Amino acid sequence: MKAIQVDKNEDGKISTALVELDPSSLPAGDVLVSVEYSTLNYKDGLVLSGLGGLVRQYPHVPGIDFAGSVIESDNDAYKKGDKVVLTGWRVGETHWGGYSEQARVNAQWLTPLPDGFSTRQAMAVGTAGLTAMLGIMALEDAGLQKDSGPVLVTGAAGGVGSIACALLSANNYEVDAVTGRESSIEYLRSLGVNTIIPRADVATPNGKPLNKEKWAGCIDSVGGAMLANVLTQMKYSASVAAIGLAGGAALDTTVIPFLLRAVNLLGIDSVMCPSEKRAVAWQRLANELPIERLESMVEEVALGEVPTLADAIIAGQVQGRTVIKVS
Ligand SMILES: NC(=O)c1ccc[n+]([C@@H]2O[C@H](COP(=O)([O-])OP(=O)(O)OC[C@H]3O[C@@H](n4cnc5c(N)ncnc54)[C@H](OP(=O)(O)O)[C@@H]3O)[C@@H](O)[C@H]2O)c1
Repeated sequence: MKAIQVDKNEDGKISTALVELDPSSLPAGDVLVSVEYSTLNYKDGLVLSGLGGLVRQYPHVPGIDFAGSVIESDNDAYKKGDKVVLTGWRVGETHWGGYSEQARVNAQWLTPLPDGFSTRQAMAVGTAGLTAMLGIMALEDAGLQKDSGPVLVTGAAGGVGSIACALLSANNYEVDAVTGRESSIEYLRSLGVNTIIPRADVATPNGKPLNKEKWAGCIDSVGGAMLANVLTQMKYSASVAAIGLAGGAALDTTVIPFLLRAVNLLGIDSVMCPSEKRAVAWQRLANELPIERLESMVEEVALGEVPTLADAIIAGQVQGRTVIKVS
């Protein structure tokens, strides 16, 4: 089987290559899957570049998500031919992942392919889309309603941001989107964004603990100074779903928005998210995400191209979702 393998040489240098592996070298697990599609996420960029300390043992097969069909199963929950999706559970980090024609994993990590999605569409959504949906579910659980006011999406032209914009718009929310790329303005409008905000306008806080109330909710994949700034501009009792750190992990802020405006900062994790919640999120994605908008976000690449893609996603230069045709 063909796979992308990341290795570390004696000098600590990382190399990535398309290789031929024997399926017997796959790690332990009770379900063997023929991987049809995987994707490129920010975390895959880190793993492919040897950054972030995510991989414990080399050589390693990356790919934090995949969709495909079951080849053989020692678990009653799945049988040969079942279509499945996998995201998270540290697959592609501590366990070999989806950049491989076959993957052996634990049955508990799999989700049945939701009705209405092909394996390619499920990977056009992928980890990024699942996390965007979990963020929206968290905002709604905290009280967000369609008439509450505009919802901000940061890092809007990226994977999480694109799916969040399309989903919010499809659900009749008013969507404000922050992007650092002028070239993505038309793209974001096509996803249903109402107002585009240049990154420079919200990149750094102005030093005041509170500013004029603007947003009824926020899906944030940037973190850092932008998140600190956004917190000062949330409406009374509004929530921010903290998803990512594309702009930095440090959060230098005051507690004033929490104390005087009852603002909520909600942590979102898709990696260890319980299976029941994943199933709900996946079915909502299949029901609510307009397929034509999903398709407009996708660039499909071959497995062999993966080693060339890491730098672009780390630099925030990938627009939408990169789907990898594995087999
Ligand atoms: N919590 C979870 O379970 C979970 C799951 C998935 C992803 N994540 C995290 O979410 C983030 C986004 O992931 P992704 O796959 O969507 O990555 P992505 O496709 O690279 O999107 C990130 C976007 O953030 C913006 N950006 C990049 N660098 C920036 C900077 N220095 N300052 C401000 N904005 C910047 C860019 O959008 P514009 O060009 O439009 O500004 C970029 O496209 C990552 O940090 C990832 O690790 C977390």
